[in-house]
Amino acid sequence: MEISRDTEVLELIDGLPRNNRQPNLVLSAARSRGADDGPYSAFRTFLKDHWSGIRDVILSRSTQTNEPRRCAVLLPVLAGIARSEGRPLALIEVGASAGLCLYPDRYAYRYDGGAVINGQGRRDLVLECRTTGNPPLPRAVPDIIHRTGVDLNPLDPGNPEDLAWLDALIWPGMEDRRRLLRAAAAEAARTPAEVVRGDLNDEVAGLIEAAPPEAAVVVFHTAVLAYLPEADREVFRDTMSGHLNVPGRPVHWLANEGQGVVPGFEAPSGEMAPGLFVLHHNGTPVARTGPHGQSLDWLS
Ligand SMILES: C[S@@+](CC[C@H](N)C(=O)[O-])C[C@H]1O[C@@H](n2cnc3c(N)ncnc32)[C@H](O)[C@@H]1O
Repeated sequence: MEISRDTEVLELIDGLPRNNRQPNLVLSAARSRGADDGPYSAFRTFLKDHWSGIRDVILSRSTQTNEPRRCAVLLPVLAGIARSEGRPLALIEVGASAGLCLYPDRYAYRYDGGAVINGQGRRDLVLECRTTGNPPLPRAVPDIIHRTGVDLNPLDPGNPEDLAWLDALIWPGMEDRRRLLRAAAAEAARTPAEVVRGDLNDEVAGLIEAAPPEAAVVVFHTAVLAYLPEADREVFRDTMSGHLNVPGRPVHWLANEGQGVVPGFEAPSGEMAPGLFVLHHNGTPVARTGPHGQSLDWLS
């Protein structure tokens, strides 16, 4: 990429705190200040001319990309849990951003261009997903009676500034993702789920405790743990492991993360194309997934 050879631009980026020197954060901040995806020469001029404002955005925001289509890779497992437990679900999302993955029952789904599985929300919000390996696709969305989450900085799906930032985080040319973001945020804003502000390690046990006893609890996260230091990921893994298999209190754990992100988790056998995530259910790999929920490669 041309930035990596541009000493003047690199100097600006080097002036940022180390944690903020993330390509996606810098590029999204520039977009949020009006940079477009034209030729690089125009982009670098814009960056240099508007650096002070762009820097402010970099320092005040973080990478919180919220991708509702990730629900398409969670849905078969969620439906399977509801079926096997014979109970409705209580969803707890750690690293929820604006909470747009907390509504898998409100979206509609179309796998491999087949029949639409309708949720209880807007019919125009269809999440398309390609599959391989014969995943157990449900006929209907599961019953969800409780949804909550935690984030270091919960975003409000009804707040235009938060929405503009989520929009800026989407890469140029991905208009389909942009359209889904707007539609899902409008749906979520009708009845926003409670997402508490805090660190997932501090909050997750209390959120599980607060879930209704008649529900099967599903704690899930997608594209989150990579942002935590290794030691914090280990704490989270141990906390979650301690909640599984407690008699009388069904708790399930879905981790949809890059390979190797959850310490000690088994890798799926076979080739892993770069950029794919692995979906683990209670520590067992069940699928390779497209990072934005666009594909589901079932493993068993
Ligand atoms: C890339 S976003 C993913 C959002 C959402 N899970 C999705 O898949 O669309 C990562 C989110 O994790 C949150 N996060 C990172 N570290 C966290 C922590 N230690 N505790 C709680 N949330 C955290 C960030 O604030 C951000 O909103």
